[in-house]
Order: sequence, then structure tokens, then C-alpha cells
Amino acid sequence: MPGTCVIGLQWGDEAKGKLVDILTEDHDIVVRYAGGANAGHTVVSGDQTWKLSIIPSGILRDNVACVITGGVVLDPAKVIDEMDGLESRGRRMVGRLQISDRAHIVFPWHVVEDRLLDGSLSGGGAIGTTGRGIGPCYRDKVGRSLAIRLGDLYRPDFRDRVEHVVAFKNRLFTAWPSGQAEPLDAASIHAAYAAYAERLRPHVTDTTAFLLDAVEDGKRVLFEGAQGALLDIDHGTFPYVTSSNSSGVGVASGSGVPSRWVNRIIGVLKAYSTRVGGGPMPTEQDNATGVHIRERGREYGTVTKRPRRCGWFDAVAARYSARLSGVDELAVMLLDVLGGLDELKICSAYEIDGRRTTQFPSQLADLERAVPIYETLPGWREELDAVRSEHDLPAHARRYVDRIAELVGRPVSIVSVGPDRAQTIIRDPEATRRPWHPHQPANA
Ligand code: GDP
Ligand code: IMO
Ligand code: MG
Repeated sequence: MPGTCVIGLQWGDEAKGKLVDILTEDHDIVVRYAGGANAGHTVVSGDQTWKLSIIPSGILRDNVACVITGGVVLDPAKVIDEMDGLESRGRRMVGRLQISDRAHIVFPWHVVEDRLLDGSLSGGGAIGTTGRGIGPCYRDKVGRSLAIRLGDLYRPDFRDRVEHVVAFKNRLFTAWPSGQAEPLDAASIHAAYAAYAERLRPHVTDTTAFLLDAVEDGKRVLFEGAQGALLDIDHGTFPYVTSSNSSGVGVASGSGVPSRWVNRIIGVLKAYSTRVGGGPMPTEQDNATGVHIRERGREYGTVTKRPRRCGWFDAVAARYSARLSGVDELAVMLLDVLGGLDELKICSAYEIDGRRTTQFPSQLADLERAVPIYETLPGWREELDAVRSEHDLPAHARRYVDRIAELVGRPVSIVSVGPDRAQTIIRDPEATRRPWHPHQPANA
């Protein structure tokens, strides 16, 4: 069984890109199956930094096929920009990158709607979206009548469809209570998208058929998650979520590859918590600890450059995400960032209206009232960036990793101590069953 998948277990930015880049070495195909240009995945190798938004991080290794499936909402201008950037740095695209003809296309009206509508949640407040038209494009996909997919760009009636949708959207924008949008021009949008279609033509294919053949032929496929499980449209902190299934449940629907082909699911966690945009975050530290984490971790959004909200590790949320995504093992990233703090806290339960629980609430109002119950662990002063083996980690750092494994209920197989590919400790499967902490019995 050839499939691996990498899923973020928090609110995104768990360093999935770094992990996918490392795992790509052992795979033939890397697949992006959800989200769109709202994602920002950073990979660092020596003095080279790569920022990828839509193209799978696998593109950085030669001889690996990369696939963008129909579950992704595709902004062609963004994908072409990214292709140009990669080509100018010596990466070949033709013959390596395939894009599904089923992918729904992000148009300028989606970006306008994103801007007009965020901030008008029925209960008040703003989601704080990335403004990339993601939600409106998924909304049109589900609504069907106004949706345009990549395959439609090559049909003779493409121009008519754009005119039809633009006429509808212009009327809608005028009627919008806060509507301040300039009318859209169908002719120029059609011309721009027809040109994008020509540029993308060599890449467009039925990726579902390609991937089903691949898994049946025993090819090793790596599914690269975008966002994180707590931003999942069905299972996350609704409505402060993204518009796709960003937890493990989205792999099959987004790619068309049944979950029976995925036999290794890696849950990616930061050693602490971050969140960009609105919504509850029980362990947020709006204080010196939050600043320490933000500055050491350089916690500013890749896509929107917003400062990320930072806080302690939330084991209640992470355990929920790990169970929801069927995670086999954990990768704990950015452990180095916690160095220099005297003590570290981990949230191991919530108190809601005086009642203690380890269950992640389904209702936003309950999560908003949740008071974290913390355990305190000793910190470490050493810098971890040069550590390459678990034995060289300070004992307190190992103990911290062990406690995460215990509370989340899955073993930790990978620890990351810096952005570079090389700054990674990977345990063999045998060692993964043992704790990281030397003072516990090896067979615990
Ligand atoms: P993704 O969206 O899940 O791929 O994560 P991002 O790339 O948005 O955010 C992770 C950030 O942390 C990037 O800037 C990475 O270069 C950086 N990073 C990854 N692993 C580590 C690590 O172990 N330590 C530190 N200090 N930075 C890391
Ligand atoms: P990666 O793949 C962090 C957040 C936005 C906002 C909410 C909805 O880099 O981990 P959207 O534009 O999707 O409608 O915004 O989701 N968000 C992310 N936060 N990392 C991401 O992706 C995100 N993609 C969306 O900040 O709160
Ligand atoms: Mg990111």
C-alpha cells in the first residue's frame, strides 16, 4: 500500500511544507488536494528559501511528479506566477506538473466577494480570510450554477459563460449592503483567462485517472495537506475555518484516491500553537510569552504577512485533530523556538462552566468559554538548531516531546529544530515506539 499523507493538526502553518519536502525523497508523486492560494508553505535548504502556495512542495526534488487535483480551487494567475518563479530557478514544469481539469477556477469576482463579505458573519466579526477568493469559489462550486472549472476554459462557450456570470455578479455587487465594487468587465476577464488557459494547457489532465492508475501500479504517493484540521469546514472551529476539508477526511474527496490506499498518516504539530485570523484560541498568550514565540519563530504569515497569534501547546485540540485525521504518528516542529523559557505550559484539559473536559467542544460558544488547564514543565536554555540526534536533545526538551506524545495519544517519529531540511531528527520505526525521555523505561 503506497500512500503517505501529511496533515496539519492545528490552525495551519505547522511546517507541512518542510516535512513534505523531506518525505518527497521516498515518493514518486506529490499531490495537493485541497485549498488554494491561501496556503503558504516554506522550504529552506542551505541558502535557498522556497515559498509555495499552490504547487506541491515535491516540485523542489527532481524526478518527482506533482499533481494538483480537482479538490483545489485554482487561481491561474497565481499558479502561473509560481511556475515562472520555479522555472527561473531551474525547476522543470512541463512533464512534471499535472493539474486537474476538474479544479474550480478562482475569478476576480471571487476576490471581490471575499473582500466584501468578510466582516459580515451572522453573529458579527470577521473570519480574517486571506482574501484570495477561496470561500466564494468553493461557494460557487457547491452552488453549481455559476461555477467554472479548468476544463471549461477550453470549451467554445467559455466566453458566454464568463459573460453570464459577470452579468449576475455585477448585479449582486450593486445590491450588496456594503457593496463598493467597481463593475467587472467580462471581455477583459475572458481575454486574460483565455491566455492563462493556453499557458496551462500542457499541464491539464484527468488527475483522478492518473492517480488511480498510479496507486494500483504501486507508485508511492505523498498527499500534502494544506491548512490544518482545526480549519476544516466540517470539523473545525466553524465559522472561523477555511472552506475545504483540511483535516484527513479531505484526502479522498479532494484527490479521488480512496483512503484505503493511504497507509501512513503523519500529523504535523508545532511545539506550541499559532493561529492567523479570527476565532477562538484558548491557549493564546497575548503577553511576553506570545511575543517570545512570535519573534523566535518568526511567526508572520507567508501569504498575508499578518503577525500570527501565538500561545501554548493545546493538547485537547491536538488530540481531537489527530483522532479525526486517523493519524499514525506525529511530527513535532519548531521545537527550537521554545528554548530560553524557564518553564513551558501544555494545556491538557479545558474547564467549561466549572466542568473539566478533555473533549474538544463542537460549539464555538463553548470553545470561547473554555479556560485552559495547564501542566507546567521545565524549559531549557540550550539552542537546539545544531542537534541532529535525539540523544543530543536536552533532557527537558525530550521530556516535553514525550508529554505531547502521551497527551495526544500518538508516537512522535520526527522532531524539527530549525527551518532547514537538515535540521530534522527522524527516528526509525523501532525507536518511534520508545519514549524520547531517558528516565522512562524503554518499553513503556
Ligand atoms: P506550512 O504552511 O505548514 O508549510 O508552514 P509555513 O511554511 O507557513 O510556516 C512554518 C515556518 O516555520 C516556515 O517559515 C518554516 O521555514 C519554519 N520552520 C519549519 N520548521 C522549523 C523549525 O523546526 N524551527 C524553526 N525555527 N522554523 C521552522
Ligand atoms: P497553510 O497551508 C494558516 C486561515 C485564514 C483565515 C481562515 C479562512 O499555509 O497552513 P481563507 O482565505 O481560507 O478563506 O481563510 O483560514 N488560513 C490559514 N491559516 N495557514 C494556512 O495555510 C491557511 N489557510 C487559510 O487566516 O483565518
Ligand atoms: Mg503556511
